[in-house]
Amino acid sequence: MGSGVEPSTGRGAGWEPERPVHRIPALATTHIHARLRAATRALHARVEACGPFGRLASGDFARADYRAALEVLLAVARPLERCPALAAGRVERLVADLRALGAEPEAVAPAALQPPAGEAEVLGARYVLEGSALGASVLLRRLGERLGLAPGAPGCSYLGAVAAGAEQRWPAFLRHLAERVDAGVDAERTVAAAVGLFEVLVGCARTAQAVGR
Ligand code: HEM
Repeated sequence: MGSGVEPSTGRGAGWEPERPVHRIPALATTHIHARLRAATRALHARVEACGPFGRLASGDFARADYRAALEVLLAVARPLERCPALAAGRVERLVADLRALGAEPEAVAPAALQPPAGEAEVLGARYVLEGSALGASVLLRRLGERLGLAPGAPGCSYLGAVAAGAEQRWPAFLRHLAERVDAGVDAERTVAAAVGLFEVLVGCARTAQAVGR
């Protein structure tokens, strides 16, 4: 690709995980997936560089950084899970993990985000949520190494659940996404919803950074 983006991953040509991090089956990139990836790639890079996520991504982090990252995810999950199509127990698991880590999840205010209104918006949000599972296995391994937390253990139920089955869920979701867009779901609105959600996530991560989390 002229943009220097590696087709199989959507990452810049120079991007290398510090070690092999996932085994997502190779999949022909659909048009809508390529559009979503192109529209959100820079935002993903911003999330990975920002506040608690930045420290988690660097591998050099403490328990408080992990807790702050879960708080950001909870702030975003609260409004999303008001949409029945997206309710998947994320809030429950995040709350349980935060309690197990000694935090106060009740004090986490919901992000300023409208629950997705239609199928296009739901698909855009699902792209971000399902895609986040691809990084979850990386984070899980680091949590084990740094904090001795095993997937599913108290404090680690959210990431454990997100990572479980991600290799099957991701290609299945991408197929569903392509089928629905082929069937007439508005691709522009889908992309706008994914971008909007990533922007909210970046905003929350920046706020966490600003307050020293
Ligand atoms: C420290 C934090 C994070 C790390 C280390 C990380 C890492 C990764 C990795 C390794 C991939 C797979 C890329 C590939 O297959 O080439 C990925 C994909 C993805 N991540 Fe993250 N991630 C992080 C945080 C997040 C968050 C918080 C979200 C959103 C809630 C997110 C959303 C996505 C999405 C949507 C994709 C799919 C991109 C595509 O279409 O291929 N990530 N991430």
